[in-house]
Amino acid sequence: MKILAIETSCDETAAAVTEGTHVLSSIKITQEIHSQWGGVVPSLARRDHEQNIDWVVQKTLDDAGVAAGEIGAIAVTQGPGLAIALEVGIKKAKDLCRQLRLPLVAVNHVEGHVLSALVDTDTHVRFPCAAIVISGGHTQVILVKKIGEYQILAESLDDDIGEAIDKGARMLGLTYPGGPALEKLAALGNPKVFSLPRPMAGREDNRFSYAGLKSAFYRLVQTLENLNETQKADLAAVYQSRVFEHLVRITTLVLTKQKENVIIRDLLVGGGVAANATLRTMIEHMGRQIDICVHYPTNMILCTDNAAMIGVAAGYMYDQGKFVPTEELDRIDRKPRMRVDET
Ligand code: KG4
Ligand code: ZN
Repeated sequence: MKILAIETSCDETAAAVTEGTHVLSSIKITQEIHSQWGGVVPSLARRDHEQNIDWVVQKTLDDAGVAAGEIGAIAVTQGPGLAIALEVGIKKAKDLCRQLRLPLVAVNHVEGHVLSALVDTDTHVRFPCAAIVISGGHTQVILVKKIGEYQILAESLDDDIGEAIDKGARMLGLTYPGGPALEKLAALGNPKVFSLPRPMAGREDNRFSYAGLKSAFYRLVQTLENLNETQKADLAAVYQSRVFEHLVRITTLVLTKQKENVIIRDLLVGGGVAANATLRTMIEHMGRQIDICVHYPTNMILCTDNAAMIGVAAGYMYDQGKFVPTEELDRIDRKPRMRVDET
């Protein structure tokens, strides 16, 4: 069955047509407007979603070569995300459901990221497995008991990993979102020139924390005047290393502990930060050490927000009977704080 999926939870206006785990087309417009503000401005995100949503949906149908009548269900991100941004996608999805008399599948954005490593592949995953979702709004280690049944094993106490990366990048004068630019700069630098504390050093915890590291980085940058390019690269290198080392250290602890109770053989990695090549190498190394097979989205575009992952998640949900018929669309409303472990 073909699904038309819509995603507007943050600053990408996205739509896709999927069939099972297969992507027939996927379109997204990344809103440029936020870069001048150093972060996403919800009212501007909403305005851009409203301007672009009709075009994005039509373009993905055209690219897939699929007529509206061939679609079996509409999928939309219900949460978590920015309330006024989510509303735009949900309204469009409901309008389409009424017009085409189709059921609606309301998808959790984090579940989309969890399943993004399964999009457009025949990867075989053995359940239970684990997942990490690392993005601007999420830093979670998740036990995937089976598709649709999740338990959060670790999450952040304060800033999320992508947020910490974006704020650190901004301190070095890089534009939002800073992840890709910080990655390039860090590759030119030496992480040993400057020293920065390791978050929660020595503590065996199942929580991530980036606020202390971010403040320490801010103080370090403040002490240096008129940074030259070499210093900037060295700062980028040490900051990125500390951010990633913390992620890997806590994830290793949590998964090792979990493996004492449950056999976990596969790890799915999703979210924008998973696009980082240095981090991928570190996670793969961790996988070898704790004997877990690591799976990434096949394409970088599937790491950052996209509608294909929402469509694929919706396909599984539909098969499990998790959809709302056209007559009951009013039951669905945006859930800005939706958790992946809620039933
Ligand atoms: O998944 P995503 O598009 O949106 C959220 O759900 O938050 O993730 C966006 C985050 C941003 O913080 C961005 O800086 C980060 O992903 N990111 C990266 C890279 N590409 C995107 N972080 C590190 N290295 C990258 N190459
Ligand atoms: Zn996301």
